[in-house]
Parts: sequence; C-alpha cells; structure tokens
Amino acid sequence: MPAAEPASDVRDALARLRGEVGKAVVGQDAAVSGLVIALLCRGHVLLEGVPGVAKTLLVRTLSAALSLDTKRVQFTPDLMPGDVTGSLVYDARTAQFSFREGPVFTNLLLADEINRTPPKTQASLLEAMEERQVTVDGTPRPLPDPFVVVATQNPVEYEGTYPLPEAQLDRFLLKLTLPLPERADEVEVLARHAAGFDPRDLRGAGVRPVADAAALARARAEVARVQVAREVLGYAVDVCRATRQSPSLALGVSPRGATALLATSRAWAWLSGRTYVTPDDVKALAHPTLRHRVQLRAEAELEGVTAESVLDSVLASVPVPR
Ligand SMILES: Nc1ncnc2c1ncn2[C@@H]1O[C@H](COP(=O)(O)OP(=O)(O)OP(=O)(O)O)[C@@H](O)[C@H]1O
Ligand SMILES: [Mg+2]
Repeated sequence: MPAAEPASDVRDALARLRGEVGKAVVGQDAAVSGLVIALLCRGHVLLEGVPGVAKTLLVRTLSAALSLDTKRVQFTPDLMPGDVTGSLVYDARTAQFSFREGPVFTNLLLADEINRTPPKTQASLLEAMEERQVTVDGTPRPLPDPFVVVATQNPVEYEGTYPLPEAQLDRFLLKLTLPLPERADEVEVLARHAAGFDPRDLRGAGVRPVADAAALARARAEVARVQVAREVLGYAVDVCRATRQSPSLALGVSPRGATALLATSRAWAWLSGRTYVTPDDVKALAHPTLRHRVQLRAEAELEGVTAESVLDSVLASVPVPR
C-alpha cells in the first residue's frame, strides 16, 4: 500500500469546501487554498488587502461552509484584552468570581481589522495564538482544538492604526494577500449582486457546511503520511538559508519559518492529490509562508525592494534538486 491513499473522502470534502466558498466569493483562489492549508496545519493566517476586496466575506463564507464553532471580533480602538480572552466576573448571587470565556474560545476566529486596536489588545490575541491557552488570574485555560485565527488587516497605513509588531508576525503560519480582482471576476461580482446576491445572507446564497472538525482531523492524519525526501527537506532549508544571506534583508527566515514551509508544502502536496512533496510544492508555498518572516533593510526598502522580490530572486538562485 502507498504511504497515503491518492483517493480520499476527506480530500473530496475539502474540494467541496472550495466550491461552497465560491458560491459567495468570486475568484481569490490562492487565498481560499491558503485558508484550507491553514486549517490542515492548524496555523493562523494574516489576510491582507485594500478595503473592499472581500477579506471579511471570504472568512465569513469559509465559516459558513464548516461545521465548526466560529466567532468574529471587530478590533476597534477601544477593545480591551478581556474582550478578546475573557475575564473574571463577579456573581452577586454566589458572591464569587467566575471566568466568562471571551471570543477566543472558538475553533475559527475572525479577528477583523486587527491593526485598528492598540498593542495591548493585539498582544492578548497573539499570546493566545502562540500558547493555545488563556491565563487569567493564574489559571491556564486551554483553547478548543482546532483553534485557528484569521486576522484581516489593511496594507494602507491609516491614521490611528497600529502595525503588528514585526517580531510577532511569525506567529502567523501564512500571510495571504487579496489582490484587486481581474475585470472578468469583478463583472461576475456585479452580476451576482444584480441577480440578488446578499453578502449578509450566506445561507440564502446556498452556502452549506461540508466539513467538520472530525473531517479536518482525518485530513491531518493523511497529510502526516505525505512523504518528504531528504533532498526536498534540503531544498526547503536552502531557500530559508538563502534569505539569511540576502544583502537586502536585515533578518532572514528562522528555522521556525523553515518548519512552517515544510508543513504548508506538505498540506499543499496532499491537497494536490500526491503522496510526496515536490520542490514545486515548496516553491508554491514559499511566498505566503515566508513573506512576513523577513525584514527588509531600510536602504533596500527605499530602493523599492520588496519581500516578494527578494523571495523571487532567492527561488531563482537556489538549485532545485532533480
Ligand atoms: N471577489 C469577490 N467576490 C464576491 N464579492 C466581492 C468580491 N470582492 C468584493 N466583493 C463585494 O464587496 C463587498 C465588500 O467585501 P468585504 O466587506 O468582505 O471587504 P473587506 O476586504 O473586508 O473590506 P474592509 O477592508 O473595508 O473591511 C462584499 O460584500 C462583496 O459584495
Ligand atoms: Mg472587512
């Protein structure tokens, strides 16, 4: 028997998940794939795009297509850490304090417009993401499994926004960027609106739950059987090491970033129906997995170098195993 079965019920379920999302969101395939990979890896996602490219709609639709507990928090300037993690409340009847769970106690958390909230509140979420538990009053409380955060942010720095601390960005497994749509896709968006599509009514648009936590767990077990040859491990490591040599970067990808690249490439290989990872899988996931884990030098930034262009030249220069 092969190490992983090419035919798989759960893979079909995840393929249907993409179909469900497509009932509300036109295009944006790369972001949809990225979100599915994150669910498979139980990793968090930073979703970036200018206003109005369906960041919120995409995550709301994904939630509607999954039988998972999902919550949404709008990160406003006055949001407090306790509004995210939960807090102790006094019960006058029993004269005791009890813990009231905040919205992080869920499977899929949409942290909308995360950079509009001050650092203290951001930090409470980032901590919960890293530790997968919340500690209030000395008592650690584990978060549900899976616990995946999708945080949206706007790339344009407006007044009154708080950029996430660079050192904490690698708590996100993937950074996905939503581009402006192609003309044909945009016409399709309008056609659906003209035909009565209401983004507030996803059930009405026909979006149905097609996968649950058990299906995700089975899928994860299959992903874990996807094989990675030593040469491909070496290739992923070489790509990460090459970022550390780049003269344009103040900080390259850490070994933690390299393990993330392995995890996402493996999930992508499985989604593509393969039992082994290819160097092309590594290449395909390099940008979304690594783009937020490198830090440009100020001089390079002034010259117009971007994380994307550095990663492009790294991928062009590192020899690919045959
Ligand atoms: N690719 C798309 N497919 C379907 N609808 C879209 C698409 N892009 C934009 N829209 C439409 O634009 C609306 C705005 O999307 P949404 O509120 O999700 O944007 P956003 O990226 O979250 O914006 P903001 O940064 O302001 O929060 C959607 O409700 C939908 O009607
Ligand atoms: Mg939004």
